[in-house]
Amino acid sequence: MTVDLKGRPFLKLLDFAPDENRHLLALAAELKDKKKSGARGRALDGLNIALLFEKPSTRTRCAFTVACIDEGAHPEYLGKGDIQFGKKETVADTARVLGRMFDGVEFRGFSHQTVETLAEYAGVPVWNGLTDDWHPTQFLADVLTMQEEFGDLKGQTLAYAGDGRNNVANSLMVGCAKLGMHCRIVSPEDLFPEPDLVAAVKEIASTTGGSLSVTSSVEDGVRGADAIYADVWASMGEEDLIAERIRILGAYKITEKMMALTGKPGTIFLHCLPAFHNLDTEVSAKNPDIQEVEDAVFEGPQSRVFDQAENRLHTIKAVMVATLGN
Ligand code: CP
Repeated sequence: MTVDLKGRPFLKLLDFAPDENRHLLALAAELKDKKKSGARGRALDGLNIALLFEKPSTRTRCAFTVACIDEGAHPEYLGKGDIQFGKKETVADTARVLGRMFDGVEFRGFSHQTVETLAEYAGVPVWNGLTDDWHPTQFLADVLTMQEEFGDLKGQTLAYAGDGRNNVANSLMVGCAKLGMHCRIVSPEDLFPEPDLVAAVKEIASTTGGSLSVTSSVEDGVRGADAIYADVWASMGEEDLIAERIRILGAYKITEKMMALTGKPGTIFLHCLPAFHNLDTEVSAKNPDIQEVEDAVFEGPQSRVFDQAENRLHTIKAVMVATLGN
């Protein structure tokens, strides 16, 4: 089947068929090889790209910026103090203005509706760099990392331990189901994913050979897993919940003991980053129990977190080239 994503927005994985996700991963691997070989790309030559950030970012901002420059485009960063973001101008009006000047628009922010509205009105491809509900470019980097480690993704098992309702967990559930993978959400019951989303994901998985399970049992959740995945316990904007999250998520911290519970010595550790794994940040120095992963795991031989971070660049580049490139 020929996959053509030209002109499409990339907002959430639910919008993309399994073949389309596989196409993006294959293109990312190709673009990664090309960059490693030293070859320059021209797929986005002469294009202007707006990068809208309501929230801070290291990986996503840098990946979009470098991807633009690698392929000949000009990136323009617009932070929350630079444009209106719905305060003195509607999102629809901002979208129409940006669409007259730019060839593509990335958005990172709070409400998922904002990125949907941008895509509806901009008239150019819009890409989701993270919203409260979804983090789809992160998922592509996660599974490219697994593909590099294990080969074929179909049948691989990924166990995510932590807040089962956040944008990373949502994206892992949907993306794994689309690719015929087995996803386990390992969370306290208070942080189980939305039942409607779980039902929709199970429906998708039933057509691809994948599966989704949701459990509060660490032993059941990680047994046989090929990858164990963590995210911070309080997402951006949830800082006032830190004490409560430490209380309910302490048992879900990724430890060497938890890694061993998979029963597979080859299990890898993944994290979208940034991570709390020692006391060397302002936040973790103030809240020593906030750490979602032991330093021994984060720095250990099973950790692939920096390969995963690098893969943000190659996968984001693939999304831009597939939807906008020549
Ligand atoms: N994982 C991720 O989205 O990283 P940033 O917040 O640094 O972009």
